[in-house]
Amino acid sequence: MTATRLQPTPTAPATAAERRSYWITTFGCQMNKADSERMAGILEAMGYREAGAELEADLVLYNTCTIRDNAEQKVYSYLGRQAQRKRANPHLTLVVAGCVAQQEGEALLRRVPELDLVMGPQHANRLETLLSQVEQGQQVVATEEHHILEDITTARRDSSVCAWVNVIYGCNERCTYCVVPSVRGREQSRLPEAIRLEMEGLAARGFKEITLLGQNIDAYGRDLPGITPEGRRRHTLTDLLQHVHAVEGIERIRFATSHPRYFTERLIDACAALPKVCEHFHIPFQSGDDAVLKAMARGYTVERYRRIVDRIRERMPDAAISADVIVAFPGETDAQFRNTLRLVEEIGFDQVNTAAYSPRPSTPAADWPDQLSEAVKVERLQELNALVEQQARRRSARYAGRTEEVLVEGTNRRDPSQRMGRTRTNRLTFFPGQRPDGTPLEPGDLVNVRIEEVRAFSLSGTLA
Ligand code: SAH
Ligand code: SF4
Ligand code: F3S
Repeated sequence: MTATRLQPTPTAPATAAERRSYWITTFGCQMNKADSERMAGILEAMGYREAGAELEADLVLYNTCTIRDNAEQKVYSYLGRQAQRKRANPHLTLVVAGCVAQQEGEALLRRVPELDLVMGPQHANRLETLLSQVEQGQQVVATEEHHILEDITTARRDSSVCAWVNVIYGCNERCTYCVVPSVRGREQSRLPEAIRLEMEGLAARGFKEITLLGQNIDAYGRDLPGITPEGRRRHTLTDLLQHVHAVEGIERIRFATSHPRYFTERLIDACAALPKVCEHFHIPFQSGDDAVLKAMARGYTVERYRRIVDRIRERMPDAAISADVIVAFPGETDAQFRNTLRLVEEIGFDQVNTAAYSPRPSTPAADWPDQLSEAVKVERLQELNALVEQQARRRSARYAGRTEEVLVEGTNRRDPSQRMGRTRTNRLTFFPGQRPDGTPLEPGDLVNVRIEEVRAFSLSGTLA
């Protein structure tokens, strides 16, 4: 929808001829980062250049996140600053994209009347069209359900080595705590041909590592038609991995995020068989207690989660496993929280993203009476975080003295004489910037690093 301005601005925003610089700040998950790279690509194709600083930019775009209340509040404080700037400089174009935009829609215009454009995640690829409406002097809100179009411009990628590739948008689950389905919409899978074509284009530009992206990536293909002669769905993540594996020049393939409900043995076997698929799996479990999982409507039990991890380790003994977990979900008892601690202890995760439950608008759990206090949230989070770090340290220790394949991504920001990259299992690794014979290492090189120092979440070593 479009709206005429609630308050007339003295001058219309900059026209095409006057276009100058843009600034994008991205909050939230990898999906948002990928959307931002595509929106930056669209802006550059329109003639914008990246600004040197946020406060100098002629167009400021916030790609927002609302997964927890603190993420949402952060956006409002950033916006306040820009609204003030806009009152002094009416040529500034102010855009809010992403999940807060979708959640709040028109209400955002009432809260921040200086905004030019409010656009939900499904509209990211339409940025140029929406901005042309803004240039005609309209205040635009684009939050209606939209079939996501293939992006025809080239994303402006932050890295020259690793790239995200969206494979499925949206989420069809109904976890009782989560805003994602209401802000990201129904699942929409891209066709395997389009995904492979994008990967071929990336390989031709020198990219070496691809992370396939989706909120529940292992649900890929459910919305695409076709059944095989054996009676299976024709399009699954397993089939997609097999389809894109042959792309020449791509050395590593990762995928995230996996949902335990859809993680099949067939997928695990394919990962073990396909050499480019890295031995790292991000599979959130959210809680180590069956009753809590049920209240969350996650659709699996702790036992099923254990079986998935066992199968992965049977096929790929060194695989790294990471997860997300929520503490202090409404009604979670101390004993139930202990079950989460026990699962973390038992699995031995390489990394766990932890969060205290945050009530979100229009989600069932937000209305439940048995909300836990801030004190309980903080206490449980601290206890869990300490355990997570201890486990990560233990998992890191296994690398000491080993030689690991590392893909050079860039320079260690804290020590420019060093390079940084990741092991196949996704451990951040630092090492010298030159080979023993003195030739400098370049982003995109694959090197063998002898690990000499281990920390909870990173490693250091020398070239083997
Ligand atoms: N689709 C993924 C996760 C996407 S959201 C999955 O189902 O696993 C990223 C993470 O944010 C979730 O895994 C969850 O741990 C956390 N999260 C989501 N809603 C939350 C809420 N209301 N409060 C606290 N953490 C939340
Ligand atoms: Fe949210 Fe659940 Fe969908 Fe993950 S699966 S995005 S937690 S609703
Ligand atoms: Fe946040 Fe939206 Fe991602 S709410 S976590 S940016 S899907």
